[in-house]
Amino acid sequence: MKRIGVLTTGGDCSGLNTAIWHIMRGAHLRGWRVFGILDGTDGLVSSPVRFIELNDDILPIEYTHIAGSFLRNGHAGALNFETAAHTGSLVAFNKKLYSSIRELKLDAVILIGGNGSLSLAWANREIYRDVQLVCIPKTIDMDIPLTDRTIGFDTAVEQLTKYCDQLMLTARSHHRWFVVQSMGRDCGALALNAGLAAGASAILIPEIKFNTDALIKHIKNSPNDYGIIMVAEGITIRGHSGKPADMVSRALTAARIPNRTAFPEHLQRSGDTTASDRLLATAMADTALNAIENNETYVMTALQNGVVKTVSLAEFANAGECINDPNIPKLFTSNAYVSENDPLLEIAHDMGVYIGEVK
Ligand code: F6P
Repeated sequence: MKRIGVLTTGGDCSGLNTAIWHIMRGAHLRGWRVFGILDGTDGLVSSPVRFIELNDDILPIEYTHIAGSFLRNGHAGALNFETAAHTGSLVAFNKKLYSSIRELKLDAVILIGGNGSLSLAWANREIYRDVQLVCIPKTIDMDIPLTDRTIGFDTAVEQLTKYCDQLMLTARSHHRWFVVQSMGRDCGALALNAGLAAGASAILIPEIKFNTDALIKHIKNSPNDYGIIMVAEGITIRGHSGKPADMVSRALTAARIPNRTAFPEHLQRSGDTTASDRLLATAMADTALNAIENNETYVMTALQNGVVKTVSLAEFANAGECINDPNIPKLFTSNAYVSENDPLLEIAHDMGVYIGEVK
């Protein structure tokens, strides 16, 4: 009988509970036991290790579509890779993780995380040398290479789209524009998808250069005198500082375009999990369990051309653009961005949405 550990790390998003429940269900059907580690790596380095054995009484199916992580993702300031790196205690931290995994007598660890967590797991892979490590990619940012979708993205797009739908009504009533700042870090996928779905008149993302004068001209020439200008949190405007939405808003105000800013913030990580995210989480849980059964290790689940499969973490680490993490010395994270071939760019352009200075 195998013993599986499961933990959620990094920022939360919707779909985590669906993944956890299906890992539990699939494992039980195989006669395995599942231990949910609380608060991510923080629970693993606690003494004693903080965990619960999962069963249907603890996590019933009807709770699995709600956002957040039933297991929690850890609290600010806790001992984790980042704080350990800063205090020079990374070696001791890694040793403790290794010994806790041994103490729980785990055969496999399923780590549900974002690109930071996956990059850290690969960089510190010695921790998992005696178990099978299978990762499941989740993030609203959609910045994980090798997978066409991450758990949580679809729900975040839905949340942000609905938020804009509400704003559009008040925008119309007052003949004004809303500059909505999306999350997404340096990746514009969330802004692009939700912006287009919500009928935004302009979408500014970090991957595409834009020109403020061209944006203003576009808005002034718009057939409407109201609407949404979607701004990804990762954009910058040369010579300006502050929140991107505020920067854009100031430029619009200077051009006498009535506007307000709106910050949906963590609502994007919340909301009932969409059916599409539930299906992805279910398929990824199944693939993760199959991978354990097939003795795979150091792999992550990935959706590629409609099929969920496993790819190696080594491949993941080299597939994206490698960025030196500003918070963790010597850690390089593997990042994905909106590709210049993303069909949504052309569609948005064809539909008269200003998306920057595209060819
Ligand atoms: O990575 C997910 C994310 O929600 C980003 O889009 C955002 O920049 C960041 O996390 C917010 O982090 P926090 O919850 O720490 O404010």
